[in-house]
Amino acid sequence: MGTIDVFIESDVSRRLSTYLCEIYPYQFEHMERFVRTSISQEEGIEFLKAIENTYPSRYVNRVFLANATSTELPSFFSSVAQDGFIDKDETMVLRVQGHPRALQDQLLAMLEEHVELSPTHFTTVLYVLQIQDVYYYGIFPREFFFRKKAKTFEPVCGAYYKIEEAIQRFNIPVSKTWNVLDIGAAPGGWSQYLCGRTAKVIAVDPANLQIEAPNIVHIRAKFESVIDELGRYAPFDMIVCDMNRDPRESAETMVRASDLLRENGHLLMTSKLIYKSETGKKALVSRTIEILKDAYQIVGVKWLLANSKNERCVYGVRM
Ligand SMILES: C[S@@+](CC[C@H](N)C(=O)[O-])C[C@H]1O[C@@H](n2cnc3c(N)ncnc32)[C@H](O)[C@@H]1O
Repeated sequence: MGTIDVFIESDVSRRLSTYLCEIYPYQFEHMERFVRTSISQEEGIEFLKAIENTYPSRYVNRVFLANATSTELPSFFSSVAQDGFIDKDETMVLRVQGHPRALQDQLLAMLEEHVELSPTHFTTVLYVLQIQDVYYYGIFPREFFFRKKAKTFEPVCGAYYKIEEAIQRFNIPVSKTWNVLDIGAAPGGWSQYLCGRTAKVIAVDPANLQIEAPNIVHIRAKFESVIDELGRYAPFDMIVCDMNRDPRESAETMVRASDLLRENGHLLMTSKLIYKSETGKKALVSRTIEILKDAYQIVGVKWLLANSKNERCVYGVRM
């Protein structure tokens, strides 16, 4: 069996390629809005199913597969049109998946006279992808088609996915016995995630929580004004903080909060990058980490798939 090129289309392709490199033993490169890898056909099916069934599928728009390339549009088009390129039989129904869309429309118009086409009841997929003047294409059976799963769960808010991803990627050993402090908790996505996986969540935020659970206690206040009062719920096994504040201020607050955390307790904090330039952002992350180092050993900083452009996620352990 030959090798196929897999192109994963995503709005966060750069971050997705980093993530995929972390979890799969293949090389992934980032090309415009695609993540590209080469894989054997056998591995290809397994890989597609894995992508469909696991976390990153939320960030995948479409997947293209290719086992041929061409630099010239005319020869490519004529080869598709030729009898023989498509091994037609009476039962073949073709789905055409192209990028850019104009190319897809062009191909559909060209093929409709030669072969039965359907976006749903197809037996075969024709993939065509143009990136930087190169056409990647191939024809594959239906099982080589990535299908995004229908949503079965609607969290309180998208922030739910930040904590889900952070815990997974930093390998944080969250436990049913844990007592957790969620600072800047509203509307409640993080608390929603945590309440099903830990014993107790103390959620601090002056704004309303849109989630209720027997093990969530909402303290409706700014964190700084209730820090002493929180002593009665301490020690915490983990503090999470997603406050929308200058990250240097959040970091200083987290240093003060470290007294509430048990030794080796976990800290997960979103760093909101208020500067536009890349150098400004880098400097802000560095300064935030410097401040946190007064109380925490920093394990890592990641730009999560679930983060916005202007957020990074910092993970540390109390010293
Ligand atoms: C991005 S939202 C947090 C979203 C939350 N993680 C979730 O999953 O729903 C930021 C929150 O930080 C809260 N916040 C800002 N400053 C705060 C402070 N000093 N103390 C507590 N909460 C604060 C805001 O009220 C706001 O609800």
